[in-house]
Amino acid sequence: MTLTLAIHSSKGGTGKTSIAMNLAVAFASTGKNTCLIDLDLRGPSLCSMFEPKTHFWINDFLSGKCNINDTLTDVKGEMGTEAHMYLSFSNPDIREIRDLVSKDRDWQASALKALMNGKRELSEKDLDVIIFDTSPGVEYESINAVAASDMVIIVHNDTNACTSCTEQLINGVYSLLDKKCGIIDNMSHRNIIDIIDTKRYGVPVLATIPCMCEIATRSKDEILVHTEPEHLFSKSIFSIKEKIEAMK
Ligand SMILES: Nc1ncnc2c1ncn2[C@@H]1O[C@H](COP(=O)(O)OP(=O)(O)OP(=O)(O)O)[C@@H](O)[C@H]1O
Ligand SMILES: [Mg+2]
Repeated sequence: MTLTLAIHSSKGGTGKTSIAMNLAVAFASTGKNTCLIDLDLRGPSLCSMFEPKTHFWINDFLSGKCNINDTLTDVKGEMGTEAHMYLSFSNPDIREIRDLVSKDRDWQASALKALMNGKRELSEKDLDVIIFDTSPGVEYESINAVAASDMVIIVHNDTNACTSCTEQLINGVYSLLDKKCGIIDNMSHRNIIDIIDTKRYGVPVLATIPCMCEIATRSKDEILVHTEPEHLFSKSIFSIKEKIEAMK
């Protein structure tokens, strides 16, 4: 069965894209057919790291203009992963982003339906894992991604603002939607990688990742799991991957 993960956070800039990217490579390089979908429709980032080899964006699929398979680019060859690593890109055109912001509830409801159908179509491709990189907070697109997932990976920074909002999301959204959750405590100012609490707000803590300058995801050559699998960050990502597999 295909496992679908939504990488989400209450606040922006907590490290979702960095973790989604590295986690996708970790799954694909250990033999799991993986699909990473950029559902951060307001702040697309995947297309700045990889070149789409298709004319269709995930936006086109959500609007009913193509099949989900039409949006996929397989980077297995490029990344040298053992299994397939499909990417589905969000359109970075500023007009498209402005258009998205004005979409109404009916469009969002049909986008959710499309996402659920897309998941079914993808599972026929013998996919092991689908990863949704999302926008932060409670905009429709983020909640759609959470609703369509099996498990939410919460990327959390231990600041006062993030703490209160994360707790509200867990109680007010993830629990109501009956989602399994795990927390990654990212950009921790403690210089250690050990997990400090096993649970936070009743949710298992999968990792504590310190602030490290080497963590940059501006190009595909900066995905540490790919370039430096022995790096502390990469080891942490592989350990998160194993914990997710054990939780499913
Ligand atoms: N543990 C870390 N230590 C230091 N820098 C980090 C760490 N994790 C991520 N970063 C950096 O923080 C910045 C934000 O990360 P990223 O883009 O992954 O966050 P995001 O949650 O996806 O942001 P957004 O909400 O805008 O989509 C990037 O420059 C990234 O390289
Ligand atoms: Mg992001």
